[in-house]
Amino acid sequence: MKEELKIFCAGSNPDLTTSIAEVLGLELNSLKIARFSNDNITVQIQENVRERDVFVVQSLTTPVSEQIMKMLITLDALRSASAKRITAVIPYYSYARSDKKDAPRISITARLIADLLKTAGADRVLTMDLHSPQVHGFFSMPVDHLTATALIADYFKNKPGREKMIVVATDAGGAKRAGRLAEHLDVPIAIVDKRRISDTEVAQGEMVGNVRGKVCIIFDDEIATGSTILETMKTLKEAGAGKIYVSAVHGVLCGDAVPRLQESGMEELVVTNTVHIAEEKKMNNMTVLSVAPLLAEAIRRIHTGESIGEMFPQELGMKPQS
Ligand code: R5P
Repeated sequence: MKEELKIFCAGSNPDLTTSIAEVLGLELNSLKIARFSNDNITVQIQENVRERDVFVVQSLTTPVSEQIMKMLITLDALRSASAKRITAVIPYYSYARSDKKDAPRISITARLIADLLKTAGADRVLTMDLHSPQVHGFFSMPVDHLTATALIADYFKNKPGREKMIVVATDAGGAKRAGRLAEHLDVPIAIVDKRRISDTEVAQGEMVGNVRGKVCIIFDDEIATGSTILETMKTLKEAGAGKIYVSAVHGVLCGDAVPRLQESGMEELVVTNTVHIAEEKKMNNMTVLSVAPLLAEAIRRIHTGESIGEMFPQELGMKPQS
């Protein structure tokens, strides 16, 4: 495997990429990203990739446009260098939120980025917990869509008060996701009705489910400004909830999300490392679970041609259409 498989970091997740390589028993492969005096980016692959199975890790995190350009140029450089197959490993695909035409004359940018990745040279994509599962279909190449739900569930299985736990979805769209976490934990769910007012503001409406005295786990795909979580917490507190844990796969934590969450009175924040979390953003009661073993196993299986679905029997099993 050592000779055949190559793993590169295109800039956004150096720690995660190093961990993935370590789990696979490989060295991280080397590329050089530089900038010309006119601000153009240049990427040079530092080793031979001819006829190799190559994986490039890059989450679309801030500065998003720059990370996208680095990824596209890296993919193109690898293709020009005659890599046999190139997999774009995108642990966090931020543009997945731009997945519908919900205002006049806008772009469905999740599809545009999918097209750009293909044009640049990606043969396949490996990603995690897309904002909506339909985004998978925007790619005209094979996509392996992993989920960190079981990883997060395993973490909460060790918490006290399981018999009083309830998983809370922050809106109707997240109910299926919350339901899967609840299934893993074998606990009920509640759903809070969210209305998005603007990019940074949300308002909560009615809640379905009884949270009085319960240990609540608010579960979302991502936390950006933190407004959704804070509004949900308000609703839960008004409804008499007990301890409130907050969990999301992608800890984007933009702007002043960290101080706002820190003051919220939550028991603990549990996220994963799909998004690199800078030291200054780490809170005392924050746990960052590593998705490196999951991604490494998926990369190994893609390389050897084994099933990825078998990694997620509970989520990806054949289910009746709903
Ligand atoms: C959107 O519907 C997502 O599921 C999250 O709820 C959203 O991205 C969170 O954004 P924010 O933290 O800015 O409220």
